[in-house]
Amino acid sequence: MPSAAPAPPPLRPDFVWGVSTSAYQIEGAAEADGRGPSIWDRHCRIRDAVYNGDSGDVACDHYHRWPEDVALMKGLGVNAYRFSIAWPRVLPTGRGAVNEAGLDFYDRLIDRLLAAGIEPWVCLYHWDLPLALHELGGWSSRDCAGRYADYAALCARRYGDRVTRWITFNEFSVFTLFGYAIPWAAPRITDRAQHLRAVHHVNLAHGAGVDALRALVPGASIGAIHNRQVVIPESDTPENRAAAALLDEHWNRAFPDPQLLGHYPPQLAAALEPYVQGGDMARIARPVDWFGLNHYGPIFAKADPAATWGYGWGEAPPGGDDHGVGWAIFPDAFRDELLEIQRRYRIPIVVTENGCGGNDAPDATGAVNDPHRIAYLTVYQKALREAVARGADVRGFFLWSLLDNFEWGSGYGNRFGLVHVDFATQKRTPKASFRWYADLIARERAGVRPYP
Ligand code: FCB
Repeated sequence: MPSAAPAPPPLRPDFVWGVSTSAYQIEGAAEADGRGPSIWDRHCRIRDAVYNGDSGDVACDHYHRWPEDVALMKGLGVNAYRFSIAWPRVLPTGRGAVNEAGLDFYDRLIDRLLAAGIEPWVCLYHWDLPLALHELGGWSSRDCAGRYADYAALCARRYGDRVTRWITFNEFSVFTLFGYAIPWAAPRITDRAQHLRAVHHVNLAHGAGVDALRALVPGASIGAIHNRQVVIPESDTPENRAAAALLDEHWNRAFPDPQLLGHYPPQLAAALEPYVQGGDMARIARPVDWFGLNHYGPIFAKADPAATWGYGWGEAPPGGDDHGVGWAIFPDAFRDELLEIQRRYRIPIVVTENGCGGNDAPDATGAVNDPHRIAYLTVYQKALREAVARGADVRGFFLWSLLDNFEWGSGYGNRFGLVHVDFATQKRTPKASFRWYADLIARERAGVRPYP
């Protein structure tokens, strides 16, 4: 009898299974208990900036319903939860006087998570810069890095007795590029110089944040979250190739290269020269413990002479599969990205986001069936295991997201949750994919490999 193909090596016994969320996308309670405004509160008030005029004012009302949400996570069986602290909830003007009520909220959440056996993974910045700091220049001002370090120190002092897993920033390149060069996110600036300054100052803030966390949290395990996605020219022309090469620097390398390799990629290094001061690279390249990867699918780039940097988002080739919301499904690109990170940066990897959007709704019986999400997750889980079999040191997987939530410029029009949220009533309904993920985690724990 022919022998069966060798099984890929199992995931590590201490592999972390989690879900991810972020403050502005789920908390709501935008004006409760002294929270200050963020740049996203303002962005949502700009006509046509967000689908349907939606905002995170109420979102999932997680600020009030968090006990129910922790109970959902316990039912799911995850042993980790990645969430973000809203800087304007704990420091309403970004600096100076703290808001005790805001700090208390995260105390309660952390304590309940720990009691439920779920490890908190705390992200300090998921795009909701306090508006008052934006008015002082935001990330295009070098001072913002120091403000961020003070905020990181405040959180480290407050929660560091219970939280060891810390994340400095979520998706540096998304909020700098879409906030300062392409007008898809707050603060909606389109200016090359401001974009460049923001890139460098956010890198400085990351380094200063790592230093604060190391100094204040004994045994801290620190990472940063990068969105890396292969950039493919929409069609093979010299203009599209040049567009893809520059976007690749801005999107994939502007942050991990200086943070982990100590230098900027070539085109960016030349452009950043006026803003980089002596000693800056050493301030940025502070050792971290792991690489957080957010990945959904590849990017297709095209030349766009009218755009701030001369590139724009192109179309995926026809005939491909997508999320139902226009995001291409390419599990091989996920596998290759994990391998490329391992080769290039040589540190352990944690997948901090991967998941699938859609327009899920309850059927006549009230059940929410989302076969497209299960199909997506199935092939991406397989790709993850292929990468591990080929040597990628992957330590955990966090699915985006626990709940349907405020999906930035798409408002409530794109649902990523394992749990359906009826935004009129706040009723939570676990979808079919919730059960699927719960089964996957249970089988992994029991050593029954669903992907031989
Ligand atoms: C990522 C963001 C996250 C969510 C998902 C769908 O880029 O980090 O907040 O919007 O995409």
